[in-house]
Amino acid sequence: MTTTSLSFIHRFEPATVPGKPPILLLHGTGGDENDLLPLGGMLAPGSALLSPRGKVLEGGMPRFFRRLAEGVFDEADVRRRAAELADFIQEARDAHGLAAPIAVGFSNGANIAAALLVLRPEVLAGAVLLRAMVPLADTPSGDLSGKPVLMLSGSMDPIIPADNAARLAAQLTAAGAEVDHKILPTGHGLSQADVTIARNWLDRLTAKTA
Ligand code: MLT
Repeated sequence: MTTTSLSFIHRFEPATVPGKPPILLLHGTGGDENDLLPLGGMLAPGSALLSPRGKVLEGGMPRFFRRLAEGVFDEADVRRRAAELADFIQEARDAHGLAAPIAVGFSNGANIAAALLVLRPEVLAGAVLLRAMVPLADTPSGDLSGKPVLMLSGSMDPIIPADNAARLAAQLTAAGAEVDHKILPTGHGLSQADVTIARNWLDRLTAKTA
């Protein structure tokens, strides 16, 4: 059920398997809080799922921050919206008694997850970034020591230049994150390979921390 009780419209599905890390689902442009719940269930069966709806509207389509053109971001808004989202994560953790979540973000949702990692690293236990790009030209050098990050990019993605995705992976690595960046023979949309790789990565992570 969609709820408006916290500072973002969102859906929350409680864990059915104790001890599994909660997953924060962040949709792409034009998605909403319902979109990624099935993906969350496939990637992390039994985990609590927290799925907010982005507050910015672009021609009626929800997003997590404003952009000036495709791939050109309003960076002041990126910072403001990342701060709001970080506060929401803390509210939801308090309300539901959750550990720090692992973000699973697609496209615009992956970009706000990358912004959270560099601006407010303490709110995430790790991240799966599906089709992400550099969210801030002037990237703060937050401490991401040991933070696990899986990045999956598409070699035929018309929206995200390969060098941009590579730069994000390098920035996160330089800040100390344990980045696994894979480039799949696909476009911007998700493929079965994304699901399989992300699920295996999350399984290994959960086994390590259990
Ligand atoms: C963005 O605006 O975050 C990226 O261009 C990806 C998207 O189209 O959402």
